[in-house]
Amino acid sequence: MAYEVKIGPIRQIVGQSRKAKFLEHVEILAHGLPLGPLAWNMAYGNIPVLGAIALVLVLDVACADQTITLRNGVRMPMVAAGTFLYNNSQAEASVDAALSVGFHMFDTATDYNNQVGVGRALSKTARGEFFLMTKVPGCGEPGVRIGHCYEDTKTALSKSLQLLNVTFVDAVLLHTPPTPALLLRTCTPICDMIRSQWQAMVEFYNSSRTRAIGVSNYCDSCMGCLEGEHSLGETPMINQVMYNFGMGSHWRGLNDTAHRLNLTLQAYSPLGSNLMHNLFHESLAKDPDAIRIAAAHNRSIFNLALKFITDQGIPLVTKSSNPVHLKDDLDLWSYRLTRNETAILQAKKSPFYESMTTYMCSQWK
Ligand SMILES: NC(=O)c1ccc[n+]([C@@H]2O[C@H](COP(=O)([O-])OP(=O)(O)OC[C@H]3O[C@@H](n4cnc5c(N)ncnc54)[C@H](OP(=O)(O)O)[C@@H]3O)[C@@H](O)[C@H]2O)c1
Repeated sequence: MAYEVKIGPIRQIVGQSRKAKFLEHVEILAHGLPLGPLAWNMAYGNIPVLGAIALVLVLDVACADQTITLRNGVRMPMVAAGTFLYNNSQAEASVDAALSVGFHMFDTATDYNNQVGVGRALSKTARGEFFLMTKVPGCGEPGVRIGHCYEDTKTALSKSLQLLNVTFVDAVLLHTPPTPALLLRTCTPICDMIRSQWQAMVEFYNSSRTRAIGVSNYCDSCMGCLEGEHSLGETPMINQVMYNFGMGSHWRGLNDTAHRLNLTLQAYSPLGSNLMHNLFHESLAKDPDAIRIAAAHNRSIFNLALKFITDQGIPLVTKSSNPVHLKDDLDLWSYRLTRNETAILQAKKSPFYESMTTYMCSQWK
């Protein structure tokens, strides 16, 4: 006899011979959750029926917390491990480490030049047990020539599958708007490039080589190029943008757009990014309110910075090569911030963001 159970994004077929292993897995999971140990002890102690019901409820709440459902019904983990700035062997090692501490989602990109390493690490795991996201370059970036946005995007998409050594990915994004947007500070005059790239994305999706499609670093004017473009069949399901503790309320405009277009906003560089990591260490990690709130929950300041994002219902991609840090980054589900704490953190604005527009977006109207 076999039965099927869904835990977060993972679908496991569990047979008799694997029952003990499965129960051990459930026990470990339950013990990491509020009221989990109580439910577990009831289920396997003197109140089995009530305990089993409590256990199902506790696990259900936890699972609901750990994934987010995209517009097309695909469930995406709330926390992903990124690979920005890693070469192939570093990416392989970091994905291996992330898998070993319980990550199920991984983020890479054509531009990171490490898809082979990511694929190598994931080849040791069953395909149904991980969510793989990659990105193809915006038109004008290396590999996708202006004037050839459609056909070069198609080529980049196929090449990603080849490098990752998979037959499908779970999500693929256009990494940036076309490069002229950087100079023009708007996407409006280059909507045709965006639509050409998007057409290639929709075809890729329709041929089942990805389970979801989206964009990244798309400001409102760029999203506007695809809004109402029903002739292309699909609009973006995800917009991956920079969002971290210290950005003040600027991100809310993008969040409003995401709600209006029924797409999922996903945060990258939730710890202030590698490039700006010193900034996080020097200012936000020393913020007295953040230190107080983290201490009140007995958490690291890094854990708090991630929790601040997921508590708002926003999924994120972080990154670490250190298994201790990776473990810390996943430990977000057994506590909640109060509204007051979230409000205090939301109001924090790092001096860095006073002089730089968040996500490079605010001037791209
Ligand atoms: N779409 C885009 O344009 C875009 C742009 C940037 C990033 N991304 C994606 O988002 C991912 C994350 O962004 P990011 O790489 O900028 O980094 P990030 O998550 O903001 O910060 C990563 C840094 O934080 C440290 N860290 C992580 N967890 C920690 C912990 N618990 N305690 C202490 N330090 C911790 C890591 O150092 P250690 O290694 O020492 O732990 C690493 O240097 C990228 O890797 C990439 O996949 C996308």
